[in-house]
Amino acid sequence: MGKFFVFFLFWTSCLIHVETLTKFRIGGELACAYNKDFQYEVTLYEWDVLDDDKIGLVSSGRGHGSGEFHIEGQDTHDGPRNNYFDMYLQIIHTCNSYENFRQKYNAFIGHFPIKHGEEYIKNYNINVTNAGSYMASKRKLINPALAKFNDEWSGSEFPLK
Ligand SMILES: *[C@@H]1O[C@H](CO)[C@@H](O)[C@H](O)[C@H]1NC(C)=O
Repeated sequence: MGKFFVFFLFWTSCLIHVETLTKFRIGGELACAYNKDFQYEVTLYEWDVLDDDKIGLVSSGRGHGSGEFHIEGQDTHDGPRNNYFDMYLQIIHTCNSYENFRQKYNAFIGHFPIKHGEEYIKNYNINVTNAGSYMASKRKLINPALAKFNDEWSGSEFPLK
């Protein structure tokens, strides 16, 4: 009985473990309305309840007015969970009125039906002007240093009356 049960588990896990492989070639252009050089980093993710999966390599660059990106990657899927990949682009950029201030913007690009051997080739134009949330960890790193610098500076240049 025990042996049979173990075999049964093994057998069913083999049945469920049918993997699909879907390829993505996602490219496009980011628009920035500020008259400045901005930097960006684009990563393709699959949204997941537990832990979002990073798909492919990061595309990074520098632009003025606009900048291009291109990502290639693939996703595997095992088990009968759902019939779609929910994909989004995570864009970290400096297109705002600050200098070297990074914002994180998640742009949802849609549901892609899971089909083995399918290749999705898509292009997106995304306006990232002031888009997304500020990256708090970066601010924390910069502020104490600035405060220290200002203290020292005012101490020597502007003596108290
Ligand atoms: C991008 O958004 C900004 C701010 O909302 C806007 O001023 C600008 O015209 C937009 N640019 C494009 C190319 O859509």
